Amino acid sequence: MARKVSIRATLTVPGDKSISHRALIFSTLCRGTVIIKGLSPAEDCQSTLECLAKLGVKSTKIAPTVENPALAECILESPGLDGLAQPKEVLNAGNSGTTMRLLSGLVAGRPFTTRFDGDASLRMRPMSRVLLPLYEMGAQVHYQSSQDMAPVSDTAPFSITGGNLKGSEFVLKVASAQVQTCILLAGLQADGKTTVTMPAFVRDHTERMFEYIKVPFGRRDNGSIEVTRLVKPLAPYEVTVPGDLSSAAFFIVAAACLPGSDLLLKNVGLNPGRKLVIDVLQRMGAEIIFEDIREAYCEPVADIRVRYKGRLKGVTVSGEEVASGIDEIPILALAGCTCEGTFVVRGAEELRHKESDRLKAMVENIQDMGITVENLEDGFIIDGVPNVPGASLWRTYNDHRMAMTGLIANCLSEEPIQLEETGSIKISYPRFEDQLALLVDNKA
Ligand code: S3P
Repeated sequence: MARKVSIRATLTVPGDKSISHRALIFSTLCRGTVIIKGLSPAEDCQSTLECLAKLGVKSTKIAPTVENPALAECILESPGLDGLAQPKEVLNAGNSGTTMRLLSGLVAGRPFTTRFDGDASLRMRPMSRVLLPLYEMGAQVHYQSSQDMAPVSDTAPFSITGGNLKGSEFVLKVASAQVQTCILLAGLQADGKTTVTMPAFVRDHTERMFEYIKVPFGRRDNGSIEVTRLVKPLAPYEVTVPGDLSSAAFFIVAAACLPGSDLLLKNVGLNPGRKLVIDVLQRMGAEIIFEDIREAYCEPVADIRVRYKGRLKGVTVSGEEVASGIDEIPILALAGCTCEGTFVVRGAEELRHKESDRLKAMVENIQDMGITVENLEDGFIIDGVPNVPGASLWRTYNDHRMAMTGLIANCLSEEPIQLEETGSIKISYPRFEDQLALLVDNKA
């Protein structure tokens, strides 16, 4: 792949993965036909769809075209919460933490047993953050690695026997939209009131979609969300998913760092709990302009224009803000490698619990590219350079976001960077490599 080219193009990225998971899973709150347009082509969302099928939700998919990802359509026939059936097989969430955690909340309210498992990466990720609250509400949780009914372990595989939940009040220690959504899904099937309070502002896709599909819920002044039992199925809905900002972020950083670039990304979701990548790049001096700002299905959406405006400046990303860009820290770190001064990230220990330990992976890869980086418990300090040397092997740990960051690193570096693998990219953005190749050849 060509390096050090400018990116001058108009591009549409595929549908948002987080919103797609919710649009699929919340269909169970309805009875009837739910239509989702612009569904994310991510393998993670396919995992959600397959798990839902095992619970009794039928679906048909219409494929998108390369030019128009928004043509992707999914039609679901939901039997409603009461119509969900005990799955005969294990629900395999694959690589997807969102699938496993959100569906745990859903089935915790059902009077049957559901078994969960995932791939090697997902089997390493902490699940007690959702299973302890569900246990507290009355679900029985059984880890395969333990004989106890109480969750004393932390990882998949596990099973949940649900039903008879009681609402409770939860104040989360970790700012996680996944945990919040899991608890709310259980709360919609519990006696009494369930309240979730978060320590920091994160993506609020769940609240926005609840509003759109008319799930009754309350929002307190401190941002806490409360729900009670959903007494009857919601009316079926139709929703169009905007483009994924986390996918767009790779191209945004490339255009901000490559001289002569002028990129227009059409129809990208701009949820305020996801905007860190834009805010930080703007603080670094990048020219990023929103065009045609609008609201669609209760989510803010815009076209994003990025123009190269000179070398970026070093900044500090603090612990309070990390949660609103948790998936974009690796690609932001790459922008940091090219900055004038130092690029600092603090308070990002959550990154150690993603599809890989992304702090470790970034520090290793940055060092291997020939750049000085200090490894911190909760982040890193990068000494930016005018020219990224490269000539290195990029370790991906089979993590899609690490692989996509590596491909962009190869575009920015003086000498080629070899990636360990790129197969993992299909987890979130199957056509990323092709789209990037078209962009750098100026054929997009
Ligand atoms: C997601 C929330 C984030 C994010 C993940 C998707 C979601 O995880 O990293 O990719 O859809 O709710 P946490 O909520 O656990 O931080």
